[in-house]
Amino acid sequence: MISGSIGPTLIGKQIVLGVTGSIAAYKAVALLRTLLREGAIVHVVMTQSATKFVTPLTFEVLSGHPISTEMFEAHQEMKHLSLPEQADAIVIAPATANCLARAALGLCDDLLSTMLLTAQCPLIVAPAMDGGMWDHPSVREHIGTLRSRGTIVVNPEIGSLASGRIGQGRLAGEGTILEAIQAALAPRRDWQGHRILVSAGPTQEPIDPVRFISNRSSGKMGYAIAEAAQARGAQVVLVTGPTALPTPKGIEVVSVVTAEEMTKALSARLAWSTTVIMAAAVADFRPSHPAMQKIKKQGRAAGQTIDLERTTDILASLSAQRTTQLIVGFAAETSDLIAHAKEKLTAKGLDLIVANDVTTEGAGFGSDQNAATLIDRQGAMTVLPLMPKRALADAILNRAQELLRTRQSGQAPKPVAGGR
Ligand SMILES: Cc1cc2nc3c(=O)[nH]c(=O)nc-3n(C[C@H](O)[C@H](O)[C@H](O)COP(=O)(O)O)c2cc1C
Repeated sequence: MISGSIGPTLIGKQIVLGVTGSIAAYKAVALLRTLLREGAIVHVVMTQSATKFVTPLTFEVLSGHPISTEMFEAHQEMKHLSLPEQADAIVIAPATANCLARAALGLCDDLLSTMLLTAQCPLIVAPAMDGGMWDHPSVREHIGTLRSRGTIVVNPEIGSLASGRIGQGRLAGEGTILEAIQAALAPRRDWQGHRILVSAGPTQEPIDPVRFISNRSSGKMGYAIAEAAQARGAQVVLVTGPTALPTPKGIEVVSVVTAEEMTKALSARLAWSTTVIMAAAVADFRPSHPAMQKIKKQGRAAGQTIDLERTTDILASLSAQRTTQLIVGFAAETSDLIAHAKEKLTAKGLDLIVANDVTTEGAGFGSDQNAATLIDRQGAMTVLPLMPKRALADAILNRAQELLRTRQSGQAPKPVAGGR
């Protein structure tokens, strides 16, 4: 362990250290040594410009791994995919203005920037540049974009710059960058002491013993929320409709099939819970008279109809029974997303609604990614771009945690029971 480091351990953590073409590139050598001393396994990826400042050989010898600079030189290994896949974190230090712009715009014309588009792990950038560049509106805008997506930005320090000027642009100190990496990799336990009831997946409403009405929900969003909440210290009960997902470890799973079963399972655990997150896509209607035997086609004319009746409105029913629970609902919409979501939020007395347009390409049912807008009862909106469902789960938990804290501090209205 490095002397003076008191943060969480980095032993065994896989870190990709991106080095870009800044005069501060030599400082990445010291950072690499520090990360190695902390027990991390570090793979260095350099931009072409970075190699003008420090030779790849330096990083290669110190890290004990070949240095990647070119996307096409070792294409069989597909490093743009394999390195981020294994990484616990990507750290770019120093990060040039050019590299920040590429990251913010999603450009991928070299190995490092392409990796950023495939990575699912935390990204930490430590910019270094001349003061004038750091203050440029374009850099400010890119930094804002990156922050809004969850990138951790370790601000440059004020001091004398390579140009001889004084300003903000010096690469943050090694200790500050190390702390940011440790914080990003430390498991957050901010939901410790909370009991979260999560619903996930579709429901199936029988037509006869072999047929049912259902929907396209895969359950991935609800499962991601349950797993994220558990990782952050909460006790979690996951009430799930039929899905093909593996049972998450350490989470009590209650399997149900129909909307009625889901209603009962959730109602029975409402009093136990402190927060309810309803990510399930519950059928609104079910066949009024499911046949006891398989319906035969013989002797039946075309144009058969099935009579449907409403299922219980679970969200409204939980909301009516609740005492102090924070209730988060989902609105999966195909049109007028925000208007419909706001209507549902009010009608069902929710604290927060996650509005997602399921027609967005790459998002919604079945996908591993999702984009959403979080809306609270005060009308505050958080727009979250397309991101892995696990990252979205964390963002929802962050917002819910803020609402709980505001409520505890007495600044927010107490829950309204019985909203419809
Ligand atoms: C001597 C010298 C020092 C530089 N230092 C920086 C710097 O600290 N920060 C920065 O953003 N750009 C700096 N640049 C400009 C970048 O090298 C240039 O924008 C390059 O295209 C960055 O490429 P990369 O982001 O792919 O590494 C410097 C250029 C030179 C010639």
